[in-house]
Amino acid sequence: MRSNRSRLDRFISQHQQLPRKQIRLLVAQGAVTVDGVVARDVAMQINQFSHICLHDEVLQAQQPVYLMQHKPVGVVSATVDDKHQTVLDLIDHQDKQQLHIVGRLDLNTSGLMLLTNDGQWSKRLMAPEHKVAKRYRVTLQNPLNDDYVEAFAQGMYFEYEDIVTQPAQLEIIDTTSAIVTLTEGRYHQIKRMFGRFRNPVIGLHRFAVGNLVLDDSLQVGQSRMLSADEVSQI
Ligand code: URA
Repeated sequence: MRSNRSRLDRFISQHQQLPRKQIRLLVAQGAVTVDGVVARDVAMQINQFSHICLHDEVLQAQQPVYLMQHKPVGVVSATVDDKHQTVLDLIDHQDKQQLHIVGRLDLNTSGLMLLTNDGQWSKRLMAPEHKVAKRYRVTLQNPLNDDYVEAFAQGMYFEYEDIVTQPAQLEIIDTTSAIVTLTEGRYHQIKRMFGRFRNPVIGLHRFAVGNLVLDDSLQVGQSRMLSADEVSQI
């Protein structure tokens, strides 16, 4: 089931190639269950994770999956790619073909990647209005100074998109390294922002998204499932 919410009768009609009239009859006979409960309303709203049975046949039984991965440099944030290994290639999960990535990282960026089959969750996380913080450790070629902090906080005009970036936080850690917190994800955003100072980024690692911090115990390339609390608290 592609879209996240649908009417029960529409789902069964598409799935079983049956007319709606017949579905009304089946529901009236108590032949349809949703999440183990007999359905009484053909118009009830279901989603991609509703467990749906017609008589004893399971029509839909997809479990939500949420993963964090420690993405290595050199692996592409995509589900298929002709040239490079993808983040999906590194995952060992029976339903991995249903997963999508939640926000891209560049090929040469490492760190916290999120993958899920729950489109509502990823949409919420990525929605600009929710301003979920993404935190990066950045290593620069040249020394930093306080002008950077000011410029990141002010926002920068990106001509291609015709936007001013949201205020970003830059904490200088030492001469050539910093922590940057963004609440959006423009194309190559961090590299472009340091590019304004003609200061190339030579290392970029995302270590947190919202409340979710990349596990120290997660080796480069490894993934793990998120707990229910992590999924709801991010
Ligand atoms: N900004 C970048 O420039 N690259 C990333 O991968 C993420 C943020």
